[in-house]
Amino acid sequence: MAMRGVHIFTALISFLLMLTIAVAEDQKKYLARGSSISTQDDTKTMLVSPNGDFACGFYKVATNAFTFSIWFSRSSEKTVAWTANRDAPVNSKGSKLTFRKDGGLALVDYNGTVVWSTNTTATGASRAELQNSGNLIVMDSEGQCLWESFDSPTDTLLPLQLMTRDTKLVSASARGLPYSGLYTFFFDSNNLLSLIYNGPETSSIYWPNPAFLSWDNGRTTYYSSRHGVLDSDGWFIATDQLNFEASDHGQKDVMRLTLDYDGNLRLYSLNMTTGKWSVTWMAFRRVCEIHGVCGKNSLCIYKPDPQFSCLEGFEMVKPGDWSQGCSYKANATLIWNNNSNSKSNHRFIFKKIPHTDFYGYDLNYSNPVTLWQCKRMCLDNADCQAFEYHKGNPKITIMISI
Ligand SMILES: *[C@@H]1O[C@H](CO)[C@@H](O)[C@H](O)[C@H]1NC(C)=O
Ligand SMILES: *[C@@H]1O[C@H](CO)[C@@H](O)[C@H](O)[C@H]1NC(C)=O
Ligand SMILES: *[C@@H]1O[C@H](CO)[C@@H](O)[C@H](O)[C@H]1NC(C)=O
Ligand SMILES: *[C@@H]1O[C@H](CO)[C@@H](O)[C@H](O)[C@H]1NC(C)=O
Ligand SMILES: *[C@@H]1O[C@H](CO)[C@@H](O)[C@H](O)[C@H]1NC(C)=O
Ligand SMILES: *[C@@H]1O[C@H](CO)[C@@H](O)[C@H](O)[C@H]1NC(C)=O
Repeated sequence: MAMRGVHIFTALISFLLMLTIAVAEDQKKYLARGSSISTQDDTKTMLVSPNGDFACGFYKVATNAFTFSIWFSRSSEKTVAWTANRDAPVNSKGSKLTFRKDGGLALVDYNGTVVWSTNTTATGASRAELQNSGNLIVMDSEGQCLWESFDSPTDTLLPLQLMTRDTKLVSASARGLPYSGLYTFFFDSNNLLSLIYNGPETSSIYWPNPAFLSWDNGRTTYYSSRHGVLDSDGWFIATDQLNFEASDHGQKDVMRLTLDYDGNLRLYSLNMTTGKWSVTWMAFRRVCEIHGVCGKNSLCIYKPDPQFSCLEGFEMVKPGDWSQGCSYKANATLIWNNNSNSKSNHRFIFKKIPHTDFYGYDLNYSNPVTLWQCKRMCLDNADCQAFEYHKGNPKITIMISI
């Protein structure tokens, strides 16, 4: 009798044990409606994809700032694939991710401000799951998708995540920061997948090469359905005939297509052994061609690695941040005369900077003219601060606002 009692007792214990393990695992599998997770620390993950490739939870941006993000769990350095509220991190104390009773999955700051929420309020939303693809899905009890993170990427596109007419990848403002930067990857109004620089003063498409017709860039403007996708073998195909492949295609790696903070679009593969990313394709080998790469009034020169510098007489607006470019040094009139008062007293001097293209501030275009005519036209135009002269194929571009 006694022996039997012990047996039942052990069986009960192991049953209870199994139950606790199941519950613990369940919590990692999905987030149920009504649950809430506070920002205690950034080491706890909320959800892990069944294949273990992705996890989501609070990501530490700074000592006191967390975002709700999805990251690659197998990379040695934490690499974020998606962020819910990139421009509004929440306080590290007292903030929470809550799957509210009304059905909305929301990120709430310490003081109650909802900084982000899914559009699933007043729906049958029942749980949130992180799928093997890295897609976070809010679904109803039948498993039907009501909201997915794949519809609102930040700077990264994952394999099988569709690029559509509404998709925009926006670069981060700096390495390792979540905030929106100045570059966007999107379908432009001509149905072309493009890269645009949205600077503080100018905005320009810099890829595909704007100097060429779309045909010469290997693209077509004809398909208005606007779709693109990276498949799981490392091939990217799109309706504008943009096709490229990862140099290690066919490896079935963990991959990501990221619009980096420097304006270059790069495809990366993760080496599962080392946890390190390697670039398997990129839009630009010559990064000086990326608009705004070192900001206004600056030069990007290959030495042979690209190096940034201010024009003579200019200094960095914000040391350490090239996106802000350079501004006129207060006492630099010895080098560059102040345009607004120099025309009248003929103190305007031109300095030659060979092999340079200053884009973004074009005012006028003439073809063909002599160098002398160029100078004359610039001096006669109150807005002209510099001009670009192409020898051989004589044409000039009058530029403004250096
Ligand atoms: C909550 O805090 C944030 C950041 O400090 C602030 O922008 C917001 O206005 C605050 N909201 C309320 C309701 O106090
Ligand atoms: C939420 O937004 C997504 C993308 O805009 C849309 O596909 C989905 O139908 C919306 N869901 C609801 C419940 O409105
Ligand atoms: C991963 O990195 C290791 C060490 O550098 C290398 O030997 C291996 O070939 C790499 N694997 C792949 C799939 O590239
Ligand atoms: C500008 O001023 C700084 C200090 O005020 C001085 O060191 C520098 O030589 C001046 N530059 C010119 C071009 O006058
Ligand atoms: C140029 O001169 C004008 C008038 O003297 C002054 O207001 C302006 O700040 C100067 N600009 C620069 C870049 O020094
Ligand atoms: C552009 O240059 C032409 C002469 O080549 C001139 O007639 C025209 O007014 C200029 N336009 C502007 C906006 O300066």
